[in-house]
Amino acid sequence: MAIKLANRVMALTPSTTLAITAKAKELKEKGEDVIGLGAGEPDFNTPQHILDAAVKSMNEGHTKYTPSAGLPALKKAIINKFETDQGLSYKPNEVIVGNGAKHVLYTLFQVILNDGDEVIIPTPYWVSYPEQVKLAGGVPVYVDGLEQNHFKITPQQLKEAITDKTKAVIINSPSNPTGVLYTEKELIELGKVCLEEDILIVSDEIYEKLVYGSAQHVSIAQLSPDLKEQTIVINGVSKSHSMTGWRIGYAAGNKQVIEAMTNLASHSTSNPTTTAQYAAIAAYNGSQEPVEEMRQAFEKRLEIIYDKLVAIPGFTCVKPQGAFYLYPNVKNAAELTGFNSVDDFVEALLVEAKVAVIPGSGFGTPDNIRLSYATSLEQLEKAVERIGQFVTAKVNI
Ligand SMILES: Cc1ncc(COP(=O)(O)O)c(C=O)c1O
Repeated sequence: MAIKLANRVMALTPSTTLAITAKAKELKEKGEDVIGLGAGEPDFNTPQHILDAAVKSMNEGHTKYTPSAGLPALKKAIINKFETDQGLSYKPNEVIVGNGAKHVLYTLFQVILNDGDEVIIPTPYWVSYPEQVKLAGGVPVYVDGLEQNHFKITPQQLKEAITDKTKAVIINSPSNPTGVLYTEKELIELGKVCLEEDILIVSDEIYEKLVYGSAQHVSIAQLSPDLKEQTIVINGVSKSHSMTGWRIGYAAGNKQVIEAMTNLASHSTSNPTTTAQYAAIAAYNGSQEPVEEMRQAFEKRLEIIYDKLVAIPGFTCVKPQGAFYLYPNVKNAAELTGFNSVDDFVEALLVEAKVAVIPGSGFGTPDNIRLSYATSLEQLEKAVERIGQFVTAKVNI
């Protein structure tokens, strides 16, 4: 029987990340030695004290529903984190915990968008933003984060993209897929436009803890009380504490928005998984040493791999300062090696060089590819060597 699906899902674009990962898996199952650089999650296990806290909570019988917006003790831990890291003070009714930052963002767009409302999304963007906006009846409006401006949008560009239908702009710093961060000065200038034009700021800070060199993470919400009022901050423990599978993320901001999100959660998820909430309490209240150790491991990999990557003919790359991705422009490499597009180049890299990377077309910039360095240094070095050999061999034909 053919079932007619709802229009809203017919328009959904399948994730390019998942498509390439599936193809890599298929090759691996056939016995091919494929190295996957597609991962969007840290390759470390969740720190032991967090695992122990989860087990303890279950043994103590904390296996029932919790309040929809999260356990009071977890909200308290999150509020303390905001105080310590950003000097921001939130009340419990200004915080909602959800099933991962992804689901929190989904819930947010559901409660702030009416049909036709526009959301400004800088390119390159994390793949789920446009789809989530569309699922809520909204319209994504793309603003090009130009490579020569380190993939960051300017206040002028933002201003020009605003119409009377604009509801919000998304700022993702550090960014997936580019790893770049906005500076305090840049955020002040963007914030000024948002305040003048009265548009909401959705600040996705999920990679906050993964910053390198002299770069510093700044939340736009911490820059003035007005900006705090105008911003919904999104964060979570997935990337900072290597807890992607636990599904704990949260939003902080305007209490009416948080209340609406809580009402929606009460009818959709009831609450984030209780055990995972206890784990997240331990993540924030316990030692932050493992977070720093993981950050240092990522930084070391970045330093080694970056130089090798940009030495490949036809590769240029804005040096990331955060997250765990490299986002080189490989348009020249694709041309030099005789491919019509970067998508075709990516396909050949997988089939011939046995390295899986994600094409930039899925992130809105088709000249780039995304490589994740959330894998061992040994694998990374081998992968970059393979890519280098693949390109050099083809260039020399
Ligand atoms: C930019 C960005 N925001 C949000 C998320 C979602 O994280 P979570 O695992 O908390 O849903 C991701 C995960 O890949 C991400 O890259």
